[in-house]
Amino acid sequence: MSAARRRKAAAPVARDHVQTHLYPEELKLAPATSQGEVTILPPQDVFATLSGVTEPVTTTILDPWYNKGFGGIRPDYFPWLYRVLDATAQVSQHIFLWGFPEIIYPVPDHLPRGFALIAWLTWYYKNCPSVIRGWRSAQLACLHIARSGTKLYPEHFLNEAQLELQRQHKLRYMPGPPSVIETSLLVGFVGRNEQTGHPSQKPIKSIEPLVLMTTKPGDTVLDPMCGSGTTGVVCRSLDRNAILSDESEQYTRLAETRLGITRRPPAPAPEPLLVADRPRPARGRKP
Ligand SMILES: C[S@@+](CC[C@H](N)C(=O)[O-])C[C@H]1O[C@@H](n2cnc3c(N)ncnc32)[C@H](O)[C@@H]1O
Repeated sequence: MSAARRRKAAAPVARDHVQTHLYPEELKLAPATSQGEVTILPPQDVFATLSGVTEPVTTTILDPWYNKGFGGIRPDYFPWLYRVLDATAQVSQHIFLWGFPEIIYPVPDHLPRGFALIAWLTWYYKNCPSVIRGWRSAQLACLHIARSGTKLYPEHFLNEAQLELQRQHKLRYMPGPPSVIETSLLVGFVGRNEQTGHPSQKPIKSIEPLVLMTTKPGDTVLDPMCGSGTTGVVCRSLDRNAILSDESEQYTRLAETRLGITRRPPAPAPEPLLVADRPRPARGRKP
């Protein structure tokens, strides 16, 4: 860690009215030469994770509760979400935001400065059990937002025949992957070997294309609301580094178990009290 970073790490940072602090040295990310390293931080709020990141992050996956059904409804959902996006844009080149289309449709009109909507992706699942009388849920949206001019890797999706054509300089155009990701919801017996018990776990196949499209081996992916750690499983299998965290102790443990991580990095040191927060002596008495 450089001297400048060390100084930064000691300083409390107030961002968006949330008093957070930067991490001490032990939470520094895996060295740039590593591939497939997964770090799971101690349980903490998404803003603490985002302000603690000191190394370059290529891609961040944001999969918060959906403000519908499980996880409850936040009255301040959009102001909160826009602050999460702004804070993520400070540290990451690409951002993927998951949510139900009927909830997150206003987001493209409130993107962080310098970021553009690259694609509106849809995860299409046919196997959601019907719980209401009416339309059966079969889709979730994932917005791909990126800093203008940031690199994409559609070539990571080429099959063997296409790769051979490319080697012979005969591939006439780059066929990108479809913007609809078709894979089943992990319910009942479907994806049994993947299921962890997290109530909103994403299938590996829904996260894999996001990582492949935006990163190369050795790049770092951040997931500050990681739930069961699906992003970590994907990154490890693709030789990308991952930093994961979740506010819940229960889900942090779930992710640690799933990824076989037995040593938790130490929690950041308690914040130094700001002068304004120190207890004041009562009036008229000597301190
Ligand atoms: C939809 S789930 C993520 C599922 C995950 N992608 C997976 O595949 O398991 C949402 C997660 O966000 C976490 N979360 C919600 N609000 C948070 C916050 N303010 N800070 C950190 N984590 C939060 C929840 O504890 C929950 O595990």
